[in-house]
Amino acid sequence: MPITVREAYLQGREHLAASGSAEAPIEAEVLLRHVLQLDRAALYTGWDRPISEDAWHQFQRVLDERARGRPVPYIVGQREFMGFTFAVDERVMIPRPETEVLVECIVEWVGRRERGNAAAPTPASSARGGARERDVGSRLPDPGSRLFVVDVGTGSGCIAVSLAQLLPSAIVFATDISMEALEVARANAARHRVGNRITFLQGDLLAPLPPHLAGRVDAVAGNPPYVPVSQRAALPREIRDFEPPVAVFIDGDGIAVHRQLIAMEVGAGQADDVAGAMAGDGKYARVRTLADYSGIQRVVVGERAASP
Ligand SMILES: C[S@@+](CC[C@H](N)C(=O)[O-])C[C@H]1O[C@@H](n2cnc3c(N)ncnc32)[C@H](O)[C@@H]1O
Repeated sequence: MPITVREAYLQGREHLAASGSAEAPIEAEVLLRHVLQLDRAALYTGWDRPISEDAWHQFQRVLDERARGRPVPYIVGQREFMGFTFAVDERVMIPRPETEVLVECIVEWVGRRERGNAAAPTPASSARGGARERDVGSRLPDPGSRLFVVDVGTGSGCIAVSLAQLLPSAIVFATDISMEALEVARANAARHRVGNRITFLQGDLLAPLPPHLAGRVDAVAGNPPYVPVSQRAALPREIRDFEPPVAVFIDGDGIAVHRQLIAMEVGAGQADDVAGAMAGDGKYARVRTLADYSGIQRVVVGERAASP
């Protein structure tokens, strides 16, 4: 007797719950939709339809992969970030919702700067709630002007591509030490049709940037690795065993990279140290921290004074 969508879902949910997944209901749904290639509405309206034997076997296979710890975004090959869909696989870190704060911060800053420069005021922005809810078009630099933005450690390209999407006059330079990550990022830029405004460069932090950019960069964003290697054993296996170590771990206290950068995401409990290092450096004004959706101080921002 063929199995229905409902029965497959319920069995999948049980399988994942038994393997220790804390999010078995949503994960079973996402994996089933992936196998059946259905959106949410179609899944629920077809609830009592039978699924093919092939689909059932494929569902069993992806459930087993998940039960062995492989993160769902790697299994389904994609992840949402800032309302955009990014292709992901084991060559890159999975984009996290807390990193959206970083993108929103830069979009807000550009808007504020433009309003400050503009002759006529533009509509006020909503307080929090995401760049995608705002009228981004009203907050852009003057037509024809160019905004130079750098994304350090681009990974999947989620920050660079989102900024290019939300700031149509931005020219973005994105670096990564990992050539494999850059392949994924380039594919994501092409997928979102912003490849012509993003230059991907392989190398260490800011080192690969072209010399002519010196003194012309408006904003630097970065989500560098920040988990001290000494904490490896304490991480969930999804991160420890599946995400690229170069994207996750750093030697020492985890803030070595931040000491060289300007506006970036930090780990829980690191914001004060990073902000202190930036303020102590003496080159940054208005050093501050921003909280993510769970109230954790997640992004440190500083504005580097222009050279005299
Ligand atoms: C935490 S992941 C962030 C990826 C992506 N920006 C995001 O937010 O999802 C850090 C990224 O920095 C890259 N990375 C690590 N060390 C680097 C370095 N010294 N210079 C440039 N990139 C580096 C890693 O390969 C990885 O892609």
